[in-house]
Amino acid sequence: MEREYSKLAPYYHYIGQTRGHFQSQQDFLSGILQNNNYTKSVLDASCGTGDVLNGLSKMFPFIKFYGSDISNPLLNRTFNQPYLYEDNIKLSDWEQLSENFPQNNMDFIYILGNSIAHAISIDKLEKTFSEVNKLLKDDGLFIFDARPWHKNIMEDSFNEPYKEKYINIVNGKIAFSYRTNYFYKDKRHHLQHILNVEEKKEIVVNFSFLDVSKVTLIDILKKNNFYNIKVIEDFDKYPFITLIAKKCS
Ligand SMILES: C[S@@+](CC[C@H](N)C(=O)[O-])C[C@H]1O[C@@H](n2cnc3c(N)ncnc32)[C@H](O)[C@@H]1O
Repeated sequence: MEREYSKLAPYYHYIGQTRGHFQSQQDFLSGILQNNNYTKSVLDASCGTGDVLNGLSKMFPFIKFYGSDISNPLLNRTFNQPYLYEDNIKLSDWEQLSENFPQNNMDFIYILGNSIAHAISIDKLEKTFSEVNKLLKDDGLFIFDARPWHKNIMEDSFNEPYKEKYINIVNGKIAFSYRTNYFYKDKRHHLQHILNVEEKKEIVVNFSFLDVSKVTLIDILKKNNFYNIKVIEDFDKYPFITLIAKKCS
């Protein structure tokens, strides 16, 4: 997975920006932060290129923003984002969060952009939720999303707007096109980006995702000391589900 993100890293920001993905996450999260005046510290535990975190940091100068991710090539952009402090950004697997950040300190932790399904098993997902729980203050908020891909692929109602189409991205610094394939195999969801970066040069990036239902996610949250669980359907344009939960005191 990290190797695949290394291949994608030079293009990731442009793809996210073109899809409106960073802006919709930022809008959603800023709405929550505006309604929670007590928030002093926020961790994006899959911050990738740091675009969402940087946007929030600019909007909320009195909140301390922290970021972590397992991909160094993606983090390289985060380290250089103008509104973030390099010391607050850590290279960290979810399983090592409590070794890299102080415990009982965060008001708000999010893992968005279809990230948690990168976990290779339900056990690993449980470990992630338990690490998030350790970092949160009592009553702190945890927000993450998942895609009910299987249902959508099976029902042929998947409304991914870029499916099977080449998208051209031309920017002052970079020009490339890509298309995305989706399929379900061996009880995992698979996504393949095919990028044409120069004439005749193709980069193929393969990701696979855990097939985990809303019911299982809620069960794992409860087992790991979260309560007040809310589910929002269809956040971020795609058929996402977003779960919001609080750490039990
Ligand atoms: C689909 S990207 C989303 C990135 C960012 N949240 C966004 O919305 O643009 C998934 C992210 O999860 C990170 N990731 C995957 N597995 C991880 C793990 N075990 N620990 C920490 N980060 C992980 C990847 O490196 C990648 O940045």
